[in-house]
Amino acid sequence: MYRLHSHCRACGYARKASPDYIKKEGSVEKLMEILDLGIQPLANDFKKYTDEHAGYAPLKLLMCPRCGLAQLSVVVEPAILYKDYPYVTSRSATMENHFSMLLHAIRLETQPLNCIEIGSNDGHFLEFCQNHNVLKVFGIDPAENLATAANESMIRTVVGEFNKRTAEVAMSNIPCPDLVVARHVFCHINEWNLFMVDLERLASEERFLAVIEVPYALDMIANGSFDQVYHEHLSYLHVGAMAHLLEHTPFKIQRVEHFPIHGGSIAIMIRRKDWPHPPHESVQRCIQREESIQGKWLEFAAKSSALMCSLESQVINAKQLGKSVCGYGASAKSTVFLNACGFKRKDIQFICDSTKQKQGRLSPGSDIPIVDEGALLRELPDYAVIFAHNFASEIIQKNERYVELGGKWIVPVPECKVLP
Ligand code: TMP
Ligand code: ZN
Repeated sequence: MYRLHSHCRACGYARKASPDYIKKEGSVEKLMEILDLGIQPLANDFKKYTDEHAGYAPLKLLMCPRCGLAQLSVVVEPAILYKDYPYVTSRSATMENHFSMLLHAIRLETQPLNCIEIGSNDGHFLEFCQNHNVLKVFGIDPAENLATAANESMIRTVVGEFNKRTAEVAMSNIPCPDLVVARHVFCHINEWNLFMVDLERLASEERFLAVIEVPYALDMIANGSFDQVYHEHLSYLHVGAMAHLLEHTPFKIQRVEHFPIHGGSIAIMIRRKDWPHPPHESVQRCIQREESIQGKWLEFAAKSSALMCSLESQVINAKQLGKSVCGYGASAKSTVFLNACGFKRKDIQFICDSTKQKQGRLSPGSDIPIVDEGALLRELPDYAVIFAHNFASEIIQKNERYVELGGKWIVPVPECKVLP
């Protein structure tokens, strides 16, 4: 189901440390363990019945002592991880607003006439581009169900991983792309060097711009949001690690823009090395802020344990007082939180979620049922834990009635808080 991962994906540290090498030369280089979340189910493995779950794998975070890249200790087989992938980009006001900010930031660099998106999901972002003067768009996504949905809504999409074949299909539709966007997919990829080789195929124009959006390691550290650590996220990126990776490619970092989405994300804008303009000052600014990231990761591990303990004691105290507790937002993050805290159905009765595909299914590992959002007012539990805490303000705002009727929210990150 999974393979062990032991060398740095960005700078190659410990690449030589194969068992044979260690036997001959002794142990020299090794990634450092920083956080162990135990053996966990796959975070998006929402199934109708427990026995349909794909299984469990270690969830452990390692860090490269040289470039500071945090990465998982295992790579789960993508065919298992992405089979029946239920993740659909949230169609929320928060997301719409983010798309608008992202496109605005891209236009500080270039005025794209066309766009290829890697990991285009159901085509939501490309549709947004099309509605905002990007004339031609094309998507690449491995999930057949999502690509079909995109094609049905007239966003042309090829099914598959990003590789030579899908890059060529994309180029038969858009021969000289101005813009390639990869939103929240880069951290899912194991072989970064191959990704760069395939990206190079698309970069025939000098004005080519690639935008790689990832959750930002510094925000994740600041928030202690260990619930972003799950099997799909193989790496936890900062700008310095990307700079290491690009050293041996034809690309350079041109600009970095920071956004609040998903608890703090960055769009790393990449140009060909022959692009004549010097990098924007945002690149150096980020790299300076990332100094001593290795020490910061160690603090992150301590903060993560404290957050788990806080939520655990909130829920246990509530239960001891005879109160009822539900969850809100069956995000992948919720799976990590639930399993790290060891919650079961007796602790958290159900989780509300707006995603139709998740409703009627079970949260992996804890077997807590996922229901529609209306259950919050129908069942009126005393407490609702917002597991989709990145959307906390939107969720609280649209459920004002819950508080009027006496309900209380628990927001577990960045500090475990009870509201009102
Ligand atoms: P995400 O952080 O991975 O996008 O997951 C957010 C989850 O929360 C997703 O399953 C949809 C759900 N959600 C709601 O149920 N109601 C909402 O109002 C919002 C914004 C999200
Ligand atoms: Zn490294």
